[in-house]
Amino acid sequence: ESIYLKDYQAPHFVIEETHLRFDLFEDYAQVDSRLVMRRNREQHENVEAPLVLVGKQLELLAIAIDGVRLSDDEYLLEDELLTIHKVSDSFELEISNRIEPQNNTALEGLYKSGGMFCTQCEAEGFRRITYYLDRPDVMSIFTTEVIADKAKYPILLSNGNAIAQGDLENGRHSVSWHDPHRKPCYLFALVAGDLMVKEGSFMTMNGRKVELKIFVEPQNIDKTEYAMDALKRSMKWDEDKYGREYDLDIFMIVAVDDFNMGAMENKGLNIFNSSCVLANPQTATDASYLRIEAIVAHEYFHNWSGNRVTCRDWFQLSLKEGFTVYRDSQFTADMNSAAVKRIEDASIMRTVQFAEDAGPMAHPVQPDSFMEIANFYTVTIYEKGSEIVGMIHKLLGAKGFRKGSDLYFERHDGQAVTINEFVSAMEDANGTSLTQFKRWYKSAGTPVVNVESYYDSAAKTYTLTFNQSCDEPFLIPIELGLIGRNGQDINAELAAGLINKRDAYKKGIFQLTEKEQVLVFTDVKEEPVPSLLRDFSAPIKLNYDYSRDQLMFLMQHDSDGFNRWDAGQNLALDVIYEVMQQFSDGTQPKVDGRLITAYFSVLKRDDIDHAMLAKMLLLPSVSYIGETQDVIDILAINQARSYVQSVLAEALAEKLAELYKKLNVQQSYLPEPEQMAQRGLKNAALSYLLKTDHKKYCDLAVTQFENSDNMTDSMAALASMVNSGYKAQAESALESFYDKWQAEPLVVNQWLAVQAGSAEYGTIENINKLLEHEAFDIKNPNKVRSVIGAFAGQSLINFHALDGSGYQLLADKIILLNQLNPQIASRLVSPLSKWRRYVDSQAQQMKQQLQRIMAQNNLSKDVYEVVSKSLIEK
Ligand code: ARG
Ligand code: ZN
Repeated sequence: ESIYLKDYQAPHFVIEETHLRFDLFEDYAQVDSRLVMRRNREQHENVEAPLVLVGKQLELLAIAIDGVRLSDDEYLLEDELLTIHKVSDSFELEISNRIEPQNNTALEGLYKSGGMFCTQCEAEGFRRITYYLDRPDVMSIFTTEVIADKAKYPILLSNGNAIAQGDLENGRHSVSWHDPHRKPCYLFALVAGDLMVKEGSFMTMNGRKVELKIFVEPQNIDKTEYAMDALKRSMKWDEDKYGREYDLDIFMIVAVDDFNMGAMENKGLNIFNSSCVLANPQTATDASYLRIEAIVAHEYFHNWSGNRVTCRDWFQLSLKEGFTVYRDSQFTADMNSAAVKRIEDASIMRTVQFAEDAGPMAHPVQPDSFMEIANFYTVTIYEKGSEIVGMIHKLLGAKGFRKGSDLYFERHDGQAVTINEFVSAMEDANGTSLTQFKRWYKSAGTPVVNVESYYDSAAKTYTLTFNQSCDEPFLIPIELGLIGRNGQDINAELAAGLINKRDAYKKGIFQLTEKEQVLVFTDVKEEPVPSLLRDFSAPIKLNYDYSRDQLMFLMQHDSDGFNRWDAGQNLALDVIYEVMQQFSDGTQPKVDGRLITAYFSVLKRDDIDHAMLAKMLLLPSVSYIGETQDVIDILAINQARSYVQSVLAEALAEKLAELYKKLNVQQSYLPEPEQMAQRGLKNAALSYLLKTDHKKYCDLAVTQFENSDNMTDSMAALASMVNSGYKAQAESALESFYDKWQAEPLVVNQWLAVQAGSAEYGTIENINKLLEHEAFDIKNPNKVRSVIGAFAGQSLINFHALDGSGYQLLADKIILLNQLNPQIASRLVSPLSKWRRYVDSQAQQMKQQLQRIMAQNNLSKDVYEVVSKSLIEK
């Protein structure tokens, strides 16, 4: 049931032109396709293979070749394959079929979201629309006619340019679109609805004017400004940074409420989950603004990294996703605080990606096999893929990297290629070899690097010894520095003759290439503190035995923002472990005073920007702490972390209150970096203050909640109450919040999530209430994520309740969603799938729930793959 990369074969046929006609009705849609095809003689010279098309849940009406209808014995229709036995070298194939978009709850292919029709074709949704060669290496020119009732669906969209429109009988109308760029069918899109449009324009670097349009349901037209702005900035940035110009006269975005993922880069017609595009100050938080900026950019950047140059097959998914995530992270870093962006990306790697890489679904960035490709839209493919591209950037430098990307786009424009071709372009443009480096794409798991140091005070040498876990070593770029007693970086020279030729230590980046390697620095006048893996220069676990005093020193002095933050995290981790041990020994827990001192001095610093300060104040998350443990005991981790947090809160309360007061100024809301950072820091202070038992601080939250004119401050105040012991205040705020916002689904989703994800309100009893609430809808992925996703992902002490009730609740919902929406069901399995990592009593209960899911009839491929791989005996 798995398919393998090694079995890849070029397609036997080419589809030169694809002509589609959609007749949309409330109870069905008719799809007529005319495909101009020929045999792929370049790849398969003498083979007379039959034509095999794929189709899923289609009602076939008729097939004709060159205008002659096929009789029943000229083709075979079985399961998801349509085989036409005999075809000539070039021909036109016409197919008519029907589908039922209104009953499509999987949200793949053509489906209805609210009152509109829309599509999601990546990865394999197009086969739910019509019979086709649904694979990314078959690229075609698409012309699409859409016909629907004019009153209900005045707006009819597809890829490319509108070329014709007209009114038809019975109040229906038709619009035809033509996309001049060859593309695989996964980039096809269609939208029909009663939509309003926000218009803008962009002048490209070569002076072409591009019309920009964001289509939304009428009630959302006041939430489109920011996405339009982000789109323009993305277009400009891609020109400046990568030399990439947009290539059509029109670029459209459509917002839909029901969407499995964040958004989709369909050529010229991006379709977005409304939560990833709609924002105004009253309804969206700063966090949503940042997400919108990043996703608008991401989808836009795909126009080159994904669409102009696409993937040969789905094993190459990271070719477009890893590279595009890297591009959007550079964009976000340029628009906001670069160090904070790095901290956030590293945190996702260390919590979510490292966990995936240590679990049953671990896979290389270029996988060798899969059962269901939808299961491989993972943090590994996306974020680890991006980290690998980032390492290439570190190795080649900014100029070399740009030379490589220029060559890649030029060489492969219009092609469907592999990851290897991306790396080759980087190599060829720089006259260098990345052979050893490519191992990153091929092997799963997180490399561990252990580092030891030795200072020889007589010889004035400082030696760092690196050891990597893998017997077949990776090439790991380790950015590092040595810090002297005065807090300044030492400009240390490598000892001559001690380093063999393959070693490289340039501009603070050491290329670790062997299993064990030694760096010796000469003329080091005093023992330095090493700052290792600066900027999180590789997605690895690096161990070095720092003392708490050294960590405090790094927090103060490291010139690398990422490592300054990381030193604080490591110090806090160490203290939390100690408190965990004290709880488990039954001794009185005691928080090392140095942690408090360190936080005090962080609060006193005015040379660090607010965004960075806010990050430095946060303790490592429960998930991250868990990820650093061999056996995860969520309840013990939470107990120790909460204890440390409340001790810190009490000790810092006055300082935090001062800070809060200073930052809590009246200003008109702008979604720009400085204000966001200020609000972020202020609200971090507020949430600490509510961890104390001084009621006056809860009054601050109540006041902020009542007076705020923006969602960021309202939500932060609400969250701080919901996540602390102030029950009465939280209750009444939750109630008035819902009263005020019930007509705004995106706000209601945040309201659901803040409860479902909290320790106080995310109890089984409350989750069941939320699932029954009028605002909940199991068919809407955003609602599922807000309640069930937030519960299993954030409300950890309830999800991991000792009686197993959390696991059971999740399994119930997975079983329910398995038939309705397999992709969403499958994603929910993830928290259970990592059962082996947990303390035994919990592990066994998680396993039982997986077994219960496994015993269901009609398991979708999606759920089956994850559950069965989780249960394989090791
Ligand atoms: N290519 C999209 C993006 O990353 C993701 C779409 C994937 N959709 C899915 N159903 N698997 O921008
Ligand atoms: Zn993407």
